[in-house]
Amino acid sequence: MNIQGNTVLITGGASGIGYQFSKKFYNSDNQIIVCGRNIEKLTALETTFPNIVTRQCDVTNADDRVKLFEWVTNHYPEVNVIVNNAGIQNRFNVLTADAKNNWEALNKEININFDATVQLSILFGQYFAKSQNESSIINVSSGLAFSPMAIAPIYSATKAAVSSFSNSLRHQLSHTNTNVYEVIPPAVNTDLGGKGIHTFGADPTDFINEIFDGLVNDNHYIGYGSSKERLTMTKAELDQVTSDMYKQLKDTI
Ligand SMILES: NC(=O)c1ccc[n+]([C@@H]2O[C@H](COP(=O)([O-])OP(=O)(O)OC[C@H]3O[C@@H](n4cnc5c(N)ncnc54)[C@H](OP(=O)(O)O)[C@@H]3O)[C@@H](O)[C@H]2O)c1
Repeated sequence: MNIQGNTVLITGGASGIGYQFSKKFYNSDNQIIVCGRNIEKLTALETTFPNIVTRQCDVTNADDRVKLFEWVTNHYPEVNVIVNNAGIQNRFNVLTADAKNNWEALNKEININFDATVQLSILFGQYFAKSQNESSIINVSSGLAFSPMAIAPIYSATKAAVSSFSNSLRHQLSHTNTNVYEVIPPAVNTDLGGKGIHTFGADPTDFINEIFDGLVNDNHYIGYGSSKERLTMTKAELDQVTSDMYKQLKDTI
């Protein structure tokens, strides 16, 4: 992928891994458009990087995703890269979760992590294919797509689904000028799931530098540290990782 001279939409680009994408693309001479829910975070981003454009949006809902697509393509018709990064993580016990009265809250993780990635990939994939310019869809999955963290069962499943969908998307777009990349973070030190949960994770700057090396080298599956190792593990080894993680974390839910 050519990492200069693009117009890049980054969902959830004002904090965490998305912020790292924003900063790195900004410093490589690209026009950046960032969407997120929190207006304070978006304003802070615009103050730090005056040329970044922000748009308040919540990718939980289908209508809001369509509105985002229409706004971006109307105001920035040259858009040629989307980073589907926005995500949330919930840790819960399936034996005590209230799937009768609280399904909306449980389902939100599927809406944000999976539905939004799929809908925005289709909308922008069709737009990119018509424009015939070099373009990229970058979907953020997780090392947990390959060995689930059982205390976050929906989260892990959404990431496996994002991984599978991205693979199919890559095949369907293979005759177009659109590349599909899957970025596969391991634990990274961000606020995912709440402040302080991921402080043991990888340094976000080291992480993003290696991810960009992968984009420049046109690697379709871009892991880092332990998530890179998971790409070549056997099923038995991946199951062992899941089992070890569950033993270590089961008392936290
Ligand atoms: N950190 C890790 O250890 C790790 C590991 C593997 C994969 N990942 C993946 O990396 C991606 C980024 O996570 P992160 O670690 O950077 O988490 P984070 O620090 O919590 O950041 C998440 C970002 O997504 C945005 N967001 C969340 N829900 C949104 C919604 N409904 N609409 C629009 N924006 C939304 C948030 O902004 P607002 O709050 O302003 O909306 C925030 O900017 C996620 O897909 C996550 O699953 C992270």
